[in-house]
Amino acid sequence: MRWFLSFLFLSFLAVVHALSSTGNRLLVILEDETEKSLYSTFWSDLEGRGYTLSFESPKSEQLSLFQHGARAYDHLLVFPPKSKGFGPSLTPKAVLDFMNKEGNVLLALSGKSSTPSAISSLLIELDLHLSSDRSAFVVDHFNYDTVSASEKHDVLVVPRPGPLRPDTKAYFSGEGVLAMPRAVPQTLGSDSPLVAPVLRAPVTAYSYNPKDDSGSMEEVYATGSQLALVSTMQSRNSARFTVLGSVESLEDKWFSATVKTPSDEEQTQTVNREFAKQLTAWTFKETGVLKVGKIEHYLAEDPADLNPQIYRIKNDIVFNMEVSEYEYDGYVPFELPSEDALQLEFSMLSPFHRLALQPTRKTDNSTVYSAAFTTPDQHGIFSFRVDYKRPFLTNVEEKHEVTVRHFAHDEYPRSWEISGGWVWIAGLWAVIGGFIAFVLVWLYSEPPSAKTKKTQ
Ligand SMILES: *[C@@H]1O[C@H](CO)[C@@H](O)[C@H](O)[C@H]1NC(C)=O
Repeated sequence: MRWFLSFLFLSFLAVVHALSSTGNRLLVILEDETEKSLYSTFWSDLEGRGYTLSFESPKSEQLSLFQHGARAYDHLLVFPPKSKGFGPSLTPKAVLDFMNKEGNVLLALSGKSSTPSAISSLLIELDLHLSSDRSAFVVDHFNYDTVSASEKHDVLVVPRPGPLRPDTKAYFSGEGVLAMPRAVPQTLGSDSPLVAPVLRAPVTAYSYNPKDDSGSMEEVYATGSQLALVSTMQSRNSARFTVLGSVESLEDKWFSATVKTPSDEEQTQTVNREFAKQLTAWTFKETGVLKVGKIEHYLAEDPADLNPQIYRIKNDIVFNMEVSEYEYDGYVPFELPSEDALQLEFSMLSPFHRLALQPTRKTDNSTVYSAAFTTPDQHGIFSFRVDYKRPFLTNVEEKHEVTVRHFAHDEYPRSWEISGGWVWIAGLWAVIGGFIAFVLVWLYSEPPSAKTKKTQ
């Protein structure tokens, strides 16, 4: 009885505690303990979703991201440092090592103080760039909050972002506006497919340093939507890194602020709290995590014999793959974004087939994607491959080898089944038949009698 009750209690806990798909140990790097109370709603939201928060000062002696060579935490949340840098345990190399071991990082920046060079050198490694003027933040004279920044125009009010591209899922979209006070702008390297912006600045925004009194706007480093307020990078091992330009946007004050831009009629409530949830959920792998379940392939005429090692050329094959997506607290069937395709390749050195996998069936926690095709007229070692890499989704790379043999000697079609051969078969039998007929006629025809000859 007692074990049953504790079992019930545990399953109840599992239901109320949404958990990240990779772990719940979250290290928060916060230099000034007194600032902790500014973000109380943010902390309680994270704890409510099942994270165990450990707060450390970057100066702390015992701070280490690793223990016995393994990650000591699953996720890292870094608040902007007050001083020049983070100290020896949070060097760019340590953070990259943490990501190489599949740890996720959320880095918040602040335009209130200048960003240390250690941070910009870390970001350069990830192909994210900060302005060389490290005290600059984003200002916009059209999309600012008239309630709190009527003079300085440094509290940006921007709508929630929509989907980045039609073939990506929108994990950050929704209704409402966000307040981004004194956000540090980032620009994204153009040649990395791993970086993606989440929130771009409005077209009228620019980067500005209040301490730079010269007022010259001639050497602007980037403007408008070239500037990202929030950007992300997902490495090849699917570790995630998010840069949030404005740490202030996580404060209790901005979670429930009312804002008004010059063009608005009335004040509106910010949705910073919901956005902070979406952003941390994505970064700490509560959303956008794909998992491949069962993979099955078989002969179309013999579905009972699953995943055979060997096929023959010109066999009809069916391939099925279960794909699930993690959504806050469990796996659900994965839905492809509307304009995207999940493709199966059947390849030896290069693909012989590249086919779109179609959703055919759903289980409780996955969608079954299928394709049917005929093996090519080429024998050798082939593989079924699925290679699906999209912004905001973890990578799917599957490779399953099979052998494709040629026909056995008794598997070729018999000659008479090949209609193109009928002419030659008919010719052959005509010759044989003709020969026999000739022989019979020859044997049985009487020689001319000698008598007749004599009479002549
Ligand atoms: C989906 O559910 C099945 C059966 O309950 C389970 O075996 C499988 O591991 C689940 N898949 C995922 C991705 O959780």
